[in-house]
Amino acid sequence: MADQERGSEGVSATPWLEPGVEPFVRIRGVTKTFGDFVAVDNVDLDIYKGELFCLLGGSGCGKSTLLRMLAGFETPTSGSISIDGADMSAVPAYERPTNMMFQSYALFPHMTVEKNIAYGLKQGRVPKAEIAERVDEVLGLVELREFRKRKPQQLSGGQKQRVALARALVKRPKLLLLDEPLGALDKRLREQTQFELMNIQEQVGITFIVVTHDQEEAMTLSTRIAVMDAGVFRQIGTPTEIYEFPESRFVADFIGSTNMLEGRVTETGSDHVDVDTEVGPIHIDQGMPVGDGARVWIALRPEKIRLAKTGDGALGSVQVKGIVEEMGYFGDMSVYKVRVGGSLIEVCAPNRVRPKDRQHAIQWEDEVVLSWDDSSPVLLVR
Ligand SMILES: Nc1ncnc2c1ncn2[C@@H]1O[C@H](COP(=O)(O)OP(=O)(O)O)[C@@H](O)[C@H]1O
Ligand SMILES: [Mg+2]
Repeated sequence: MADQERGSEGVSATPWLEPGVEPFVRIRGVTKTFGDFVAVDNVDLDIYKGELFCLLGGSGCGKSTLLRMLAGFETPTSGSISIDGADMSAVPAYERPTNMMFQSYALFPHMTVEKNIAYGLKQGRVPKAEIAERVDEVLGLVELREFRKRKPQQLSGGQKQRVALARALVKRPKLLLLDEPLGALDKRLREQTQFELMNIQEQVGITFIVVTHDQEEAMTLSTRIAVMDAGVFRQIGTPTEIYEFPESRFVADFIGSTNMLEGRVTETGSDHVDVDTEVGPIHIDQGMPVGDGARVWIALRPEKIRLAKTGDGALGSVQVKGIVEEMGYFGDMSVYKVRVGGSLIEVCAPNRVRPKDRQHAIQWEDEVVLSWDDSSPVLLVR
């Protein structure tokens, strides 16, 4: 996962865990209201140098508003923002060490790629020779050297996106703000471009803050993610933390698919919790500060559940019987919906055998056994 692999020699891949490291971006008690409407509601956030940080949330939750306040295009109603140790409240957008890349790339249609990229430097009166050198350098970085003389309408969506990125990078901001940078690309290109974006970010070492509503994109790209909802952060953490250790039903539901089972705590200990749910008792091999009888929820990811035909013998300590009610074939894997009493449990499994092996293939109406490890269920109290 991204959070284990990032970071090069001598640089911590997890600066947020290092004692004494100053955050590069410090957001304190920031609120933004439009009339009576609270778009961003008293948020605190620290982002560290070299991070590729994602603000993730549904449409209208306040992501762009927060990004625009960092860029200086909006003024916070209250609270403070500092970047690289300097308070930004009196610093106008054009004097901030930031640059913003918009979703609608806003390239000049009558200018070549080269001229589009050089534009900001010309405005800033950078010497001609230096402009040529810097433009060539970023063209190399985004692999567009042979397209330098083309106009935007002679480029594909992905190439336009790279021109926009080059134009933002050429000004060498300390902090690059990207609002839905891959939003205009189709799925395949988006996935490919995600990796390019990560590679470029590592090469230039600039701190990136990316706004996206696409959870897979956030999971792939980020060092850390802030899950946003209605102007507040629901959880801030690495992709693994957000996916494997959601702190609330909202986050568990928002990221990936999950089975949410309501239940009551029947027993607690320092190293376990037992919960009675609609599919039977569930044992969790981890202590949690909950009282006996408390109403809780269990989140169980579809890929953490094993599925076997009755008699084929399932593995794991838990065994729950059910009937396959729906099946979806996705080539690499299949998704099953299994009726267990009043619940429909989603299970996904890789298609390890080709379907000619019929007697082992699971079919509609088959009675199956579900099992999982005691470490797989996540106990949620809110
Ligand atoms: N200039 C504005 N005037 C009034 N309302 C705004 C303005 N900008 C944003 N909003 C509202 O604030 C909320 C958050 O917007 P935005 O930050 O753009 O959301 P997101 O980027 O997460 O989709 C939305 O409900 C939007 O309508
Ligand atoms: Mg937005």
